[in-house]
Amino acid sequence: MNNQANNKQTADEQAGDNNAGDNNAGDNKAEAAFAWTDAYLLGYGPMDDTHREFVQIVSAMLQADDASFTSHFKAFALHAERHFGEEKQWMESSEFPARECHIDEHTAVMKSVREVEVVLDQGDIDAGRSLARALADWFPGHADYMDAALSHWMAKRSYGGKPLVFRRDAVKA
Ligand SMILES: [Fe+2]
Ligand SMILES: [Fe+2]
Repeated sequence: MNNQANNKQTADEQAGDNNAGDNNAGDNKAEAAFAWTDAYLLGYGPMDDTHREFVQIVSAMLQADDASFTSHFKAFALHAERHFGEEKQWMESSEFPARECHIDEHTAVMKSVREVEVVLDQGDIDAGRSLARALADWFPGHADYMDAALSHWMAKRSYGGKPLVFRRDAVKA
């Protein structure tokens, strides 16, 4: 019997190119990247300074190991009280219109901070890490929507015009 052992099906079946190598590797930095960018600048100096601090503290919290996490979290809680208190004081002293929903949003964040603080003190680091990630996700939208309006308002009062924002990012192409 003639066995057809030499049946080499030369792999000519490269019909079309296999697009197997098209997955974007390197996009899975789940929590690493929360860093200051000048895209966050809003133009009212004191607010921009506070926002830099916010990003720095949340970023440090995201990268903290378990042993140091709680102290980073406590530092954030102090920052948040000052940050939100400062904005509230600006809104009230300048009679910023429609300040209620802005203040309400701060209040909701502080409520979460206080709740998580309790379970964190019982050793639930994961709850703290979840909140840290949520804060990093929350900040850009809040800054863009609510803080930007307040910054504009405060800058107008302080500098007599629209805030001038110089963003290094914007210089590129
Ligand atoms: Fe803010
Ligand atoms: Fe705010």
